[in-house]
Amino acid sequence: MTKSTVAQIRNRFDNDVDRFSNLETGQTAVMDTLLLLDVVTGAAAQINPQASHVLDVGCGGGNFTMRLLQKLPNLNVTLVDLSAPMLERAKSRVAKVTSGQVDTQQSDIRELTLPTAQFDVILAGSVLHHLRTDTEWQAVFDKFHAALKPGGSVWVSDLIEHDLPQIQALMWARYGDYLVDFQDEAYRDKVYSYIEQEDTPKSVLYQIDRIRQAGFSQVEILHKNSCFAAFGGVK
Ligand SMILES: C[S@@+](CC[C@H](N)C(=O)[O-])C[C@H]1O[C@@H](n2cnc3c(N)ncnc32)[C@H](O)[C@@H]1O
Repeated sequence: MTKSTVAQIRNRFDNDVDRFSNLETGQTAVMDTLLLLDVVTGAAAQINPQASHVLDVGCGGGNFTMRLLQKLPNLNVTLVDLSAPMLERAKSRVAKVTSGQVDTQQSDIRELTLPTAQFDVILAGSVLHHLRTDTEWQAVFDKFHAALKPGGSVWVSDLIEHDLPQIQALMWARYGDYLVDFQDEAYRDKVYSYIEQEDTPKSVLYQIDRIRQAGFSQVEILHKNSCFAAFGGVK
């Protein structure tokens, strides 16, 4: 199947801002959404308690940064997203709860230029699964490594795939059961179809390899349940 282009993905997200702007529910198509928000931001706060600057890539409505600011108040925040309406929403929510500076950059992560050794924490929530080629995946983790201060950390929370097809089938079915329990079969099929159309997730181990190759000295897995996982690395 031909996957969606960047322009098509931008257009879909431009029209879906509310779904990514609720900290009480998180993003409900994601299994363990609230736990993921909590462990990712908990890990960032634990590893970088003196952090002053966070970069949130594919920020959507800003949920990951909003949750991080509850643990590390008044950070300077840089928000990056493809979608201008998402950035607008994220900026307005984040600016209300931090006294730090809030900058936004509308960009595809592949095109994004970042300053060197600037950030203490990088968050990437449900966005890297839009990357397609091995070269793109590696380049993005390389870019994150260069943008972090020494000792800084990157945390990914995302839809993932499995390397063994039988295990992928098992976990995919479990995700389907979750979507049916959450709503119904029609909702499951709708989510399945946009994932099929738009997403190219990779396994946890694939991404950990890319993270190590980018030069991160330590890596950690925070959580995995079926097709969702959170993990990261420390520079
Ligand atoms: C599924 S939402 C997740 C939002 C937020 N991180 C969260 O977890 O609640 C994915 C976000 O990534 C953005 N996005 C998709 N592809 C992107 C790309 N190539 N570069 C930058 N942002 C992208 C979308 O516009 C959308 O806001």
